[in-house]
Amino acid sequence: MSLKNRSFLKLLDYTPAEIEELLDLAADLKARKKAGIRHNEQLAGKNIALIFEKTSTRTRCSFEVAAHDLGMEVTYLDPSGSQIGKKESIADTAQVLCGMFDGIEYRGYGQEIVNELAKYSTVPVWNGLTNEFHPTQILADFLTIKEHFGKLAGLKAGFVGDGYNMANSLIVGCLMMGMDFTIACPNGYRPSADVLFFAREYGDHFKLTTAPDEAARGADVLFTDVWTSMGMERETERRRRDFNGFCLDAARMALAKPDCMIQHPLPAHRGEEITAEVLEAHANEIFDEAENRLHVEKAVLGILLAGK
Ligand code: CP
Repeated sequence: MSLKNRSFLKLLDYTPAEIEELLDLAADLKARKKAGIRHNEQLAGKNIALIFEKTSTRTRCSFEVAAHDLGMEVTYLDPSGSQIGKKESIADTAQVLCGMFDGIEYRGYGQEIVNELAKYSTVPVWNGLTNEFHPTQILADFLTIKEHFGKLAGLKAGFVGDGYNMANSLIVGCLMMGMDFTIACPNGYRPSADVLFFAREYGDHFKLTTAPDEAARGADVLFTDVWTSMGMERETERRRRDFNGFCLDAARMALAKPDCMIQHPLPAHRGEEITAEVLEAHANEIFDEAENRLHVEKAVLGILLAGK
């Protein structure tokens, strides 16, 4: 299927070959930006809406800079600045916005909201994070891992932390791309049931455990994320207790392969999910990952609106 004009709601909507195509385009756009080569001819004059019902640094900035680099104009709707879902239905919002914009990014709550936006929109809709998935972040992680190891397939990945949107997306993405994946999370913080159902198809390539050392042992790449995601702030103290022992620290890193890399979507809480020492030792990989949000957002905007 052509990538042109397709929404990007979750990784499972794409084949591994299409994800590789997006990553190749992102790498090419990154190289062109670094070389100072303009790459905005196709999309100049397009307009996109960025709907943020939750706060953001990386996602907002990467979509905005990507759009500007591609010659597009951006309208930002902040968490208090739109009627969506409050005074106006998702369906009506979609039909209004697609009459004005060439694409719509949405960050907010349930996956059903971004699905509904896409259902009623005639222009592409991009998922900038929902409670279930964070697919553009995973593209940035994959681009960073490919820059580091030159490949995805065959690598052994581990995730230590909350089985929430990052974990859900990584399980799907890593298994699709031929990686082994072990996730360690406390009881009560398992990934979504439908994601675990999907992972069952991959047999021994997937493992769910409550033992963080199992996720770290022999890993090529280790992922983590904050223990308390946006909107869960009232649970912070309980979560600190429940995730006690799930920190990526030097002792745990010593179980991984010597050249193991770390990916963290940021913001990080040093001393909770990762020690300051381990984060600083892997800062290049983590901040490259943050920068790569820009290049993958550009690939998503560019390939979906204009085709290649
Ligand atoms: N990683 C990520 O999504 O960062 P923001 O919440 O700052 O957008």
